[in-house]
Amino acid sequence: MIKQALKTGVIYTNMVIQMEVYEGKAKKVIPIDDTKVILEFKDDATAFDGKKKAQFKGKGWLNAQISAVLFRVLEERGVKTHFIGVAGDNRLIAERLEMYPLEVVVRNVVAGSLKKRLPLEEGTELPEPIVELYYKDDALHDPMINHYHARILGISEDELREMESIALKVNEILREYFRERGIILVDFKLEFGKNGRGEIVLGDEISPDTCRFWDAETKESLDKDVFRFDKGDLISAYERLYERLTGESV
Ligand code: TMP
Ligand code: ASP
Repeated sequence: MIKQALKTGVIYTNMVIQMEVYEGKAKKVIPIDDTKVILEFKDDATAFDGKKKAQFKGKGWLNAQISAVLFRVLEERGVKTHFIGVAGDNRLIAERLEMYPLEVVVRNVVAGSLKKRLPLEEGTELPEPIVELYYKDDALHDPMINHYHARILGISEDELREMESIALKVNEILREYFRERGIILVDFKLEFGKNGRGEIVLGDEISPDTCRFWDAETKESLDKDVFRFDKGDLISAYERLYERLTGESV
């Protein structure tokens, strides 16, 4: 472990800092120093566990800008996020976090995989939000897990409760924010990490790649379902979302 770190890291007196770039399916995480990273949003899109793939010129820019808008909205309303600033077209600067291997999904309306779990029709509004946990593990295809499983993975009950409580607060804030803009926040996925001070902080991205947004009137998708289910042009859907959020045209 230390040997590996020494090969790839920057060595300080009593600290080894990993400086390796992490490349995911839709983003790169590029370390800057021991407290900051650059998130570089790619134009690549994948769906269904990476089985469907494509590239959309301009998607990286749109996801970076939309994430920046939403992180600012959350910060202004008291949610701690890793967002520090925009660093060029498709890049954000963020606080460096040690990420939990979890996806925390919040749902307000029946869509996607919830249809396989409950006998409810797509579009049914839920009487209260549902929070779900998924274990981020490619080999296991990101299975849904509960608190018992998460504790075996070394995540404490307190940490789980805190993440779920932040996720529900994010839901309250963003649901209202989107409602005011004529958009239904159907569901979304969050990821959390711990910063150097041991605080649990909202990380990753909040974009149409990781949320479902429906036009409140037409129920059209303004998110990655456009790509998943071949519903039209992904970039024009993401641009419409951007324009609704910022009031600016792309
Ligand atoms: P699901 O209905 O497919 O379970 O997705 C729920 C929400 O989570 C939806 O807004 C899309 C998002 N999501 C991701 O961001 N990454 C993923 O890998 C999956 C499966 C879903
Ligand atoms: N992001 C996941 C994948 O590559 C799944 C999804 O969002 O549908 O495949």
